[in-house]
Order: sequence, then structure tokens, then C-alpha cells
Amino acid sequence: MAIQIGQSEPGCNDPMGLLAACHRRVERFLKTLCAAAAQASVHDLTTEEREAIGRSLRYFREAAPNHTADEEQDLFPALVNRDPAAAAAVESLESDHVRAGELHRRVDAIGEEWIRSGRLSESELAKFREASTQLEQLYAEHIRIEETDVFPRAAQVLNEAELEAIGRRMAERRGVAFLPKSMAS
Ligand SMILES: [Fe+2]
Ligand SMILES: [Fe+2]
Repeated sequence: MAIQIGQSEPGCNDPMGLLAACHRRVERFLKTLCAAAAQASVHDLTTEEREAIGRSLRYFREAAPNHTADEEQDLFPALVNRDPAAAAAVESLESDHVRAGELHRRVDAIGEEWIRSGRLSESELAKFREASTQLEQLYAEHIRIEETDVFPRAAQVLNEAELEAIGRRMAERRGVAFLPKSMAS
């Protein structure tokens, strides 16, 4: 599913801005999953909740992997190339991505079953709650490190051409046209 990039959002010609905007979506969709899990013992899923959970699961399944690929395939290698001292931070962030992937697979499998049947057993619900809470904790620290350390470092050491190359790859991944900064109004 192609994610619609809103007018007010940074475009691919602002790679770090767009990555931070993706973080806001990650936080929002995770919040939806955690809130649904918190409500689940009170009642079966409503149509509205079912749709909200479906949208969140779909985001993490289909769109969020682009963000991970932006970082792992383009931003991180470019950063480490310019600033080898960033390697340790990057390695730790990449292992977070692996851990998050495992948790997402668990949340997705249980969540899809939840949408299908409208309710979960107590033990499945407990597993869903635990995995989504762990994701929230993992992302809170992960995003903090990216936004306060790694992205600012990259913005400092990468030149315009390197940033544009990263942005072009982001646009390609999302199937949208790349608008160079000089052409953006
Ligand atoms: Fe990341
Ligand atoms: Fe990120």
C-alpha cells in the first residue's frame, strides 16, 4: 500500500524530516494497537476498532518496512562512511530493527486473528498486550536515539548530493516522484 504523503509533510527531498514524520506514524499506529488491547477485556471488537487495528497492522506490514530499508540500506551506510564513529550506534539500531520485526510478526498474527473472530482468548490477548507494549518501549528509545543523535549527525556530515541520493531512493521505494529541493516551492 502506498502511503499518501500529506501536503504539510516533509517530502523525499528532506530525508531526515520524512523519516521523523514516519516515526510519528509509528507512534500513532502503535498507540492504536495498545489502546485496543487495553479495551479488549471490556467488550468484543467494534467495527470501528476492527478497522483501526486493521489499518495499524497494515501500516506495519506494508509501509513501515520502507522506513527500515531507508535507514539500513541508505542512511546508515552513508553516515558510517562519513563518520565511522557512528558504527556502534547504527549496529545497535539495526539489532532493534530485528527485535521489532519479531514482535511485529507476533502482533500481526494475533491481531489478524482478532479481526477475523472479533475476540481473543485471555492468553492470546495477554500475548498481544505484551508484544505491543514491548514494541512501544523499544520504539520510544529507538526513536529517541535516531532523532537526537543519529539523524542530527547525518545532517551534519552528509553533503547535499548524498542527502539527495538518499531522498531519491526513498521516493523510488514509495513509488513517488522525487522533487529536487531547487524545484520545490
Ligand atoms: Fe530505525
Ligand atoms: Fe527510524
